[in-house]
Amino acid sequence: KSPPFLANEPVRPFSFKDTKDWDLLRASLTKFTDEGALSVPLVINGKKIYRDETKPQVNPSHHSQNLANVSQATAEDIKAAIEAAKSAKAKWAATSWTDRAAIFLKAADLISTKYRYDMLAATMLGQGKNVYQAEIDCVAELIDFFKFNVKYAEEMYGTQPIQTAPGVWNRAEYRPLEGFVYAVTPFNFTAIAGNLVGAPALMGNTVVWKPSATAALSNYLLLTILEEAGLPAGVINFIPGDPIQVTDLVLEDPEFSALHFTGSTDVFKNLYCKISNNVAADKYRDFPRIVGETGGKNFHLIHPSASINHSVLSTLRGAFEYQGQKCSATSRAYVPESIWPEFKDQIAAAVDTITIGNTSDPSQLNAFMGPVIHQQSFDKLKAVLDNAKTDPELEIITGGSYDSTNGYYVQPTVIRTTNPQHEYLTKEFFGPILTVYVYPDNSYEEIMNSIDGATKYGLTGSVFARDREAIRLAEEKLRYAAGNFYINDKSTGAVVGQQWFGGARASGTNDKAGSGNILSRFVSVRSVKENF
Ligand code: ALA
Repeated sequence: KSPPFLANEPVRPFSFKDTKDWDLLRASLTKFTDEGALSVPLVINGKKIYRDETKPQVNPSHHSQNLANVSQATAEDIKAAIEAAKSAKAKWAATSWTDRAAIFLKAADLISTKYRYDMLAATMLGQGKNVYQAEIDCVAELIDFFKFNVKYAEEMYGTQPIQTAPGVWNRAEYRPLEGFVYAVTPFNFTAIAGNLVGAPALMGNTVVWKPSATAALSNYLLLTILEEAGLPAGVINFIPGDPIQVTDLVLEDPEFSALHFTGSTDVFKNLYCKISNNVAADKYRDFPRIVGETGGKNFHLIHPSASINHSVLSTLRGAFEYQGQKCSATSRAYVPESIWPEFKDQIAAAVDTITIGNTSDPSQLNAFMGPVIHQQSFDKLKAVLDNAKTDPELEIITGGSYDSTNGYYVQPTVIRTTNPQHEYLTKEFFGPILTVYVYPDNSYEEIMNSIDGATKYGLTGSVFARDREAIRLAEEKLRYAAGNFYINDKSTGAVVGQQWFGGARASGTNDKAGSGNILSRFVSVRSVKENF
């Protein structure tokens, strides 16, 4: 029987109107909004620092509501955060791993028992999630990351070389990296932010953390929970601020030893190049570890033998849950001609039933979809939809409208293209837009070449089929098209410890969040041989 902390955190039922859960969540939502905008400080060496220069974090469901004024780090603050990470390092690295682990296990426990509703409320209000999407993120997945990382660390520390000769004791010492880690975290998963800072810290590293401007509220709350769980000052330093300024100053430091990143491919490429240039200029003591998870253009490939019902429902969830803003979201589907008429009718009918609402309003928090994250994203998606209305190679099957009067709402949209190379099948939009290509039934194998070659990405993808040979062929031919490959399931929803998450190609370094592999990137092993 597995030890209890290997079980994934159960996801609570979320249709709990008029229950105690409902009251607690409503109280947390009110607490965050009752007194107007909150002040989110920087946290450097355990001290909260409030700056005059702030950036608003608005509620994307209702953008006239400013949730938080987020202090912006000055150049001096950024340097102070780096120094704090460096000064805290020796003591933290010398702390026993079990003492470090206890802090993360306690934080997981606090989230589960004491801060569950506050975490849900901060993520729902700030990041536009409905209650279910928030629950699977900032409660279940976050707790899982903390607990599973401890289990993986325990395995790693216990893994030792085999003694190869009499009179010799060989040992592996899993040292933290020698410098500090820079974590750049995304808006779309509070859990991912927790793992990006938590995994390196668990292994004895100290961290400079640049949160996303649109997730500062939930991310700051998470840091305060880690502090309550016993995280010492200086181990994780929280510095919201101008991304370019923060990055440039951090990457200047000779003790920069790793980047832990989730975000866009372009930003990651930029960071990668800056780091490489600095390596070439001998700026660093170490070759920095670069760990990144970036974009995707994730596919569903439907075979003629697939269940139409199941593939429609899965596509709907993969494409439109959390407004298509998961890096794993389904954004292209390849459907055979023989089932297209039925597939099209079913998906159009299903999209019609999707509820869209202000998911931070207690009366609507079960709406299937909420808003997209900000004005910039709304504007980009609006342009994509407008263009689809005039491009002769595109036909809007359902959806196509948008409205930003109160919040950044984009209708779930299915677009069909007649061109297998169309940029709507190749470019990431990061929103609730699915592009479909209908292929002749007898070119199932050829269509895989298009799927594989159309984009530079390789994050997630699914095949839907009952025919075993069709499944086998897709597994073989799409080997590098997805780091997470699903058979008869949607392309989203990897569970920590069950489906290790990440992709290669332009989707990242494929170091697999939710696995022990990620932890190995944040240690520098010393082999010790002792003769007796
Ligand atoms: N881990 C998240 C998913 O698989 C991103 O959807």
